[in-house]
Amino acid sequence: MFAASFNRFARRSVMQRPGVTRVKAAAKLDTARFTGFSRAASAGPRNIAPVQRHGKVFTDKPESILGSPTDEKYNVPTGVREKLGKDLLLKPSHPLGILWKSVQEYFVTVDPDYNFFDTNAPVVGTTQCFDDLRVPPEHPSRSPSDTYYVNKDMVLRTHTSAHQCQYMRQYPKIPSFLCAGDVYRRDEIDASHYPVFHQCEGVRLFPTSEKNTKEIEEDLKRTLEGLAAHLFGIEVGENTMRWNEDYFPFTEPSFELEIFYNGDWLEVLGCGVIHHEVLQTADLDPQKVHGWAFGLGLERLAMVLFGIPDIRLFWSEDPRFSEQFTADSFANKTVFQPFSKYPPVMKDISMWIPEDFVDNDLFEMIRDEGGDQVEKVDLVDEFVHPKTKKTSKLFRVTWRDMSRTLTNEEVNAKHETVLERVVKELAVELR
Ligand code: DAH
Repeated sequence: MFAASFNRFARRSVMQRPGVTRVKAAAKLDTARFTGFSRAASAGPRNIAPVQRHGKVFTDKPESILGSPTDEKYNVPTGVREKLGKDLLLKPSHPLGILWKSVQEYFVTVDPDYNFFDTNAPVVGTTQCFDDLRVPPEHPSRSPSDTYYVNKDMVLRTHTSAHQCQYMRQYPKIPSFLCAGDVYRRDEIDASHYPVFHQCEGVRLFPTSEKNTKEIEEDLKRTLEGLAAHLFGIEVGENTMRWNEDYFPFTEPSFELEIFYNGDWLEVLGCGVIHHEVLQTADLDPQKVHGWAFGLGLERLAMVLFGIPDIRLFWSEDPRFSEQFTADSFANKTVFQPFSKYPPVMKDISMWIPEDFVDNDLFEMIRDEGGDQVEKVDLVDEFVHPKTKKTSKLFRVTWRDMSRTLTNEEVNAKHETVLERVVKELAVELR
């Protein structure tokens, strides 16, 4: 499935930009998720207009999550809740831990006093996740169909940008920091999408007396080109890197960096000059300090760097995966050797959908029943009945376990449960 864009905030589809090939071989599995402000191609063009969407609760509700009480807005399924506290970034021999470490190594060369935060709990306030970053009240990224709510005021962070203001406010004397962590989004299901992934956020501040805005922008670009060169082992130059204008509500101007790698342009990160209102929210005086920020999705980079073909593998406890990596894998340029693929079992779901149907609700229900045995869900067909005006959708679910062959019987049993639930909970009519 092709991603229309990474960026949930952008005003125009980058697809329209000439010369950008979105997806190809390795990139196919990584493009969709970087900063994660992506909307899938199936969701149509990017939309920043108000939308009313669901976000159903498919699970038992615990009293609280990481100390925050739940309420009727709670919509975190059990499978996602079980990911809390796995701390993949803190494991030195895990591909994500290895990548996070190598990002830190680069930033120490930029400024030996760079600060690193990676133990923040992922439950944050909606103020922190959205308002502090100038995300408008009606923006679709706040919708419970896209975001996991613990209660009406608390969410599982959808991006590490949620900590920008927090740290700038808490440590006004710290001019440069990175923070990394697990982030959570309801989304489609394929090799590059998973409801939990990891991001790294970077901030660097300067006194206004030291650099003007143009110089901030130049410093930002130079620093991040250096990061890309360090991570991908390429030279900085026009043939290997290019900058595109972008849009994020928290930066002005905003950019994305693409690099030419394995024969294709690959979006690496989003960034920009921190908006003065964001600085003010963090109790800083934009007359005195300003700076830049960026956000980087770690899975998609790790997938490209280490040749990891499926995002589910990051969560695998199969030693055939984990034993291929050591703390030296970045230096050694380890490339994952896939173990044999077991055969898939395909199941179709064909249905008339109600008007308020949201694809993400279906995806989450399938994930809830199938867990990591669901490899992908494709929308194969969609049409509107000329007389009844009802919409029909046909989804194809690919079931495949990464460690063994699934039998048709066991998949059938789970598929039947999915069918029962979609009828009951999503009010669809099976065809
Ligand atoms: N938070 C953005 C996302 O998840 C990524 C991002 C873009 C972070 C620009 C930044 C930034 O700090 O300046 O898509």
